[in-house]
Amino acid sequence: MGKSADEKQIKFVLDESEIPQAWYNIQADMPKLPGPPLNPATGKPITPDLLAAIFPPALIEQEVSQERWIPIPEPVLDVYRLWRPSPLYRARGLERALDTPAHIYYKYEGVSPAGSHKPNTAVPQAYYNKVAGIRRLTTETGAGQWGSALALASRQFGLECRVYMVKVSYEQKPYRRLMMQTWGAEVIPSPSDRTQAGRAILAKDPNSPGSLGVAISEAVEEAASRKDTNYTLGSVLNHVLLHQTVIGQEAKKQMELAGEYPDVVIACVGGGSNFGGLVFPFLADKFAGRPLRAIAVEPSSCPTLTKGKLTYDLADVAGLTPMLEMFTLGHDFMPPAIHAGGLRYHGDSPLISRLVADGLVEARAVDQLPTFEAAVTFARSEGIIPAPESAHAIRAAIDEALAAKEEQKERVILFNLSGHGHFDLAAYEAYFAGRLENYSYPEEKVEESLARLAAQFPASR
Ligand SMILES: Cc1ncc(COP(=O)(O)O)c(C=O)c1O
Repeated sequence: MGKSADEKQIKFVLDESEIPQAWYNIQADMPKLPGPPLNPATGKPITPDLLAAIFPPALIEQEVSQERWIPIPEPVLDVYRLWRPSPLYRARGLERALDTPAHIYYKYEGVSPAGSHKPNTAVPQAYYNKVAGIRRLTTETGAGQWGSALALASRQFGLECRVYMVKVSYEQKPYRRLMMQTWGAEVIPSPSDRTQAGRAILAKDPNSPGSLGVAISEAVEEAASRKDTNYTLGSVLNHVLLHQTVIGQEAKKQMELAGEYPDVVIACVGGGSNFGGLVFPFLADKFAGRPLRAIAVEPSSCPTLTKGKLTYDLADVAGLTPMLEMFTLGHDFMPPAIHAGGLRYHGDSPLISRLVADGLVEARAVDQLPTFEAAVTFARSEGIIPAPESAHAIRAAIDEALAAKEEQKERVILFNLSGHGHFDLAAYEAYFAGRLENYSYPEEKVEESLARLAAQFPASR
């Protein structure tokens, strides 16, 4: 006997008219807020003028706002319409492959033109800068996901965009660079001779491969030194996570269409923006008493939430940014060469750090090999080839589904598939060729780095 349409339905889609009209600000509902950003020079809370050199007023307001709902401007909604609402899928193929009684759902953000969730914030950031009279934007990018999102968004609002791309990625990842160039961005290998920070590194080592920390310093320095130019960041800050909450708001409506509510919501964490985006709107229900587990998944090679310390640390390596209260491995953390390039940040969003510290969010670290195994299982059962970052969430979702099987209990699992992996196939190749290894970042290295931090900045003790 054939199954009814309901029993077979895979995609839960919303009409364009159902794109959320406001972002959800979790600061209105969190039991406890993170401490304020500090000026590294004085150890005192920063004043808005420090941020005004690199951010427009609307984003500075959003950073500190405690309004529950922040309306999404019409021109931003008009660009969101290009790919939002994104689909929610019931992972029936994966459920069959695992033979689990769990119901698995995923929200798919890879449908954006850049292939990930990153444009959800790149678009409003470009918009607010345009409104503030800014003509040019700078940013840094490692693997290229964030840079390509900003290149796309800048073009939509007629802004010039300069992306400092870590030199080794610039040379090894030509396709992400070409995406940015296709959208009209200027992509500069970092370290470069355009900034003091870059020239200082090149003087020491003309062949420096670059790092995210140096690229941030170059982008911030350029923005701070030019009136017509501002800086943008793809994760970590409150306003970035705020913009991503369109994901979770849509997902709540789509779960309603499916007639279910998740027992557990899962997302990977680099700086925390796709996690905040999916999970914060569900946490609003948890704060109101509804049972829900939320799991933040990170790589064992960059175990910020599971092995780091909650303290004040710099957001960049050069010390040009305010200090944030967050779980950190120390800002001089040297990331090992793992393939989930977007999860290599030394810190985490202060909001997520606080929620983990208060026991409202669980944190879990997963190894690289089981993560790629999960990615391949997913690609073979669901069709979509996931970004290696997103595969961390898949690993945790599979483990939850296998636990449900063990207990012979139904469990409704929802995770964020934050992007596709079409430009990450070299990592898949390395996995198939047996060239990837598991690597756990050693506890002693965290201790050493945090001791250096405490000596440098008493506020972090
Ligand atoms: C596809 C994808 N997912 C997740 C991340 C991690 O970032 P965040 O924690 O800000 O979502 C990145 C970062 O570049 C990414 O490209």
